[in-house]
Amino acid sequence: MNPTSEFQGKNVFVAGGSSGINLGIAKAFAAAGANVAIASRSQERVDGAVAELKAISAKLGTQVHGYSADVRNAESIAAALAQAHGAMGDFDVLVSGAAGNFVAPALGMSANGFRTVVDIDLNGSFNVMRNAHQYMVRPGGSLISISAPQAMNPTMLQAHVCAAKAGVDMLIRVLAMEWGPDGLRVNSIIPGPIDGTEGIRRLAPTPEARAMMISSVPLGRMGTLDDVAELALFLGSSKSKYVTGAIIPVDGGSSLGGGRNLGLALPANA
Ligand code: HXC
Ligand code: NAP
Repeated sequence: MNPTSEFQGKNVFVAGGSSGINLGIAKAFAAAGANVAIASRSQERVDGAVAELKAISAKLGTQVHGYSADVRNAESIAAALAQAHGAMGDFDVLVSGAAGNFVAPALGMSANGFRTVVDIDLNGSFNVMRNAHQYMVRPGGSLISISAPQAMNPTMLQAHVCAAKAGVDMLIRVLAMEWGPDGLRVNSIIPGPIDGTEGIRRLAPTPEARAMMISSVPLGRMGTLDDVAELALFLGSSKSKYVTGAIIPVDGGSSLGGGRNLGLALPANA
C-alpha cells in the first residue's frame, strides 16, 4: 500500500463483488488501504472472494466483510448494506456492478429471460444506489456504476443487456443531478472487453470470437482487471472531485467505432 493513499481507513461497498471486474475493483481498494465489503447471491462465491480479499487486508490491518444478497430484491440488498454500514460506518465509495448476460436473439428470449437481465442490471442498480444513499459520506461520497458498451452500441443478441445498461447510464445521470447538492458524485464506467472474465467467456467463447473482438480494439488487446480498477480508484478519489454524471469508457478505444473504419481500404494507386 502507498503510505500516502487517501483510501486508508475509507469504506468501500461493492455490489456484485464476488468475481471478475468487480472483485478486481474490490481488491484494488483493499490494496490501497480501504475497508471493503462485498455482496452477491452465492454465499460460496462470497466466501471465496472474502478469503482473497483477506489475503490483502491481513497485511494492512483493514476490514473485509461479505454478504449474500440478491440485488433484484430490494430488501435483500438493503439488509446487506445495513449490515456493512453497521460493521464499517459510512461508505466513501459504493460500486454497483452486479449483472447477468446470455447470448440470444430477442425472439429466443422469453419474457422472463428479458426481465431477468433487466431486473439484475437496471432494477438492481436502482436498489443498490437507492438504499446506499443514506449511508454515504456527505459531502464527498462517490457512487460508481459498472455499465457496458451495450449501453451505447445497439448489439444483436444483446437486446436485454442493451436495454438494461442504457437504463443504468441514464439512471446514474439523474442521480448525479439529484444527489449533487448532497455532495455526492455518481459516475459510470464502461469497460471494454476485459480478459479472463465471465463476460468474455460468454460473449467470446472461441479463439475466432476472441480474435474478432480484439480486432475491434484500436489499442489491439483486451483490457485487464487492473485497467478497470485504476479508473474506479480515480473515480473514488478526490482527484475526480469535480467529475459527476460522467460515463467513462475504459476500452482501448473500442467504442470509437471498432477501429476498423468500416473496413475501408485505400485504392492500390493511392
Ligand atoms: C435464452 C435464457 C438463456 C439463454 C437463461 N435464459 N439463459 N434464455 N438463452 N442462453 C432464460 C431462462 O430460460 C429463464 O427464462 C430466464 O432466462 C432466467 O433464467 P434463470 O437461470 O432461472 O435465472 P437466474 O438463475 O436468475 O440467472 C440469471 C442469468 C445467469 C442472467 C440467466 O446467467 C446468471 O446468473 N448470470 C450472472 C453472471 C453473468 O451473467 N456474468 C456476465 C456478466 S457480463 P424462462 O422463461 O425459461 O423461465 C456483462 C457484459 C459483458 O454483463 C460485456 C462484454 C463486452
Ligand atoms: P461476473 O464475474 O459474472 O460478475 C458479476 C457479479 O455479479 C458476480 O459476482 C455475481 O455473483 C454477481 N451477481 C449476478 N447477479 C446478481 C444478483 N442478482 N445479485 C447480486 N449479485 C449478482 O462478470 P464480469 O464479466 O466480471 O462483469 C462484471 C461487470 O462488468 C458487470 O456489470 C458487467 O456488465 C460489466 N462488464 C463486463 C465486461 C467484460 O468484458 N467482462 C465488459 C463490459 C462490462 P453471484 O453469482 O454470486 O451473484
